[in-house]
Amino acid sequence: MTWSNAKNKELQERARKVIPRGMYGHESTILLPDEYPQFFSRARGARLWDVDGNEYIDFMCAYGPNLMGYGFEPVEAAAAAQQALGDAMTGPSEAIVVLAETLVGMVDHAGWAMFCKNGTDATTMAIVAARAQTRRRKILAATGAYHGAAPWCTPRPAGTLPEDRAHVVYYQYNDADSLEAAFKAHEGDVAGVIATPFLHETFKDEALPERAFATAARELCDRHGALLILDEVRAGFRLARGSSWSDLGVRPDLSAWGKCIANGHPISALLGSDTARKGAEAIFVTGSFWFAATPMAAAIETLRHIREGDYLERTVAAGRRLREGLQQQAAAHGFTLRQTGPAQMPQILFEDDPDLRLGYAWVTEAMKRGVYLHPYHNMFLSRAHGLDDIAIALAATDDAFAAVKKRRDVLAPHPIVAQMLAPH
Ligand SMILES: Cc1ncc(COP(=O)(O)O)c(C=O)c1O
Repeated sequence: MTWSNAKNKELQERARKVIPRGMYGHESTILLPDEYPQFFSRARGARLWDVDGNEYIDFMCAYGPNLMGYGFEPVEAAAAAQQALGDAMTGPSEAIVVLAETLVGMVDHAGWAMFCKNGTDATTMAIVAARAQTRRRKILAATGAYHGAAPWCTPRPAGTLPEDRAHVVYYQYNDADSLEAAFKAHEGDVAGVIATPFLHETFKDEALPERAFATAARELCDRHGALLILDEVRAGFRLARGSSWSDLGVRPDLSAWGKCIANGHPISALLGSDTARKGAEAIFVTGSFWFAATPMAAAIETLRHIREGDYLERTVAAGRRLREGLQQQAAAHGFTLRQTGPAQMPQILFEDDPDLRLGYAWVTEAMKRGVYLHPYHNMFLSRAHGLDDIAIALAATDDAFAAVKKRRDVLAPHPIVAQMLAPH
């Protein structure tokens, strides 16, 4: 079947009339290549079909929630069984206790758990709990890090007030000196430090955490009586079967989880150590759907597969194969790629591509050949991405490199992206 996007374009047009700007948040495709599909009809395993019937090997995994494969049957069966009994009820089911016990058993620093829906709920609850516990105001956050779309952290501040983030102070990720300086500047008023397990900013190379930085964050929090918050929403359980900083020997006080913990079912969590229990007990946080039992049943089953299965080794192996294959292909076609971060959560950018025109052209060519890549956001692999899928994807990307090479001299940049990235 030849690739087409007529139905997608029609839906985009209809959406513009009834949805502000046609779409919002990370599902707006305003910064994606023009031909990228926005609407999808189904997903299974590592595959995704758009509304025009085009099939893709999907390297976005729903921006993170898909860990075991779309429609992973053991999780869907557990969810369906709970759904048949009851989902949102007048009170939670037994599953909330089992799920809290499960997470406390898996994440080394955790002594308790609370559940919500989105990652933003969990990160926001973390900072509120840290402030309640310490009775201080300042939250230290890394410049450029994404922690959600609430007024204290949204990357697009329209409609928010300077006051919403008046007590958020920025440091540089992996730079312990900048963290120490922030503590010094706000001596006695720092409630917490929030950090992601590694640096995964859009449009930029990823960076792994330096042990010295993670250790310094822990020591500074201890010395100043602040809480260390690890934002595991994107990376959680994709790097390790427990806390992402366990390998570094650093235990946070609070951690926020979401995205993949129920393999696509809507649930997120705030976990905390016993020393951070007081703040969590003081705050009022809730939501109509936060106690629904179906996503909890899905999470319990997903976590069982995280503990007992081979998803981690498989995603790493598939990610490495993809990375090696792309590196060779790029070199053979005269390009240099910057592939950064963990292989199972890769960021892929082109060297010598300041306005990303090469990257945009390459992902568009790959997309039309059945491989859904992202030009500026980190990608994700799931357990369902077998080495056979990687081989199919690599055949498409090879052709995509060849196609870009052919029209290299006539490529135009994405107008908005080029403007955004232009040096000011
Ligand atoms: C590190 C991190 N924190 C928080 C969030 C917010 O999660 P959600 O979009 O589920 O609210 C995200 C979402 O991408 C994230 O990557």
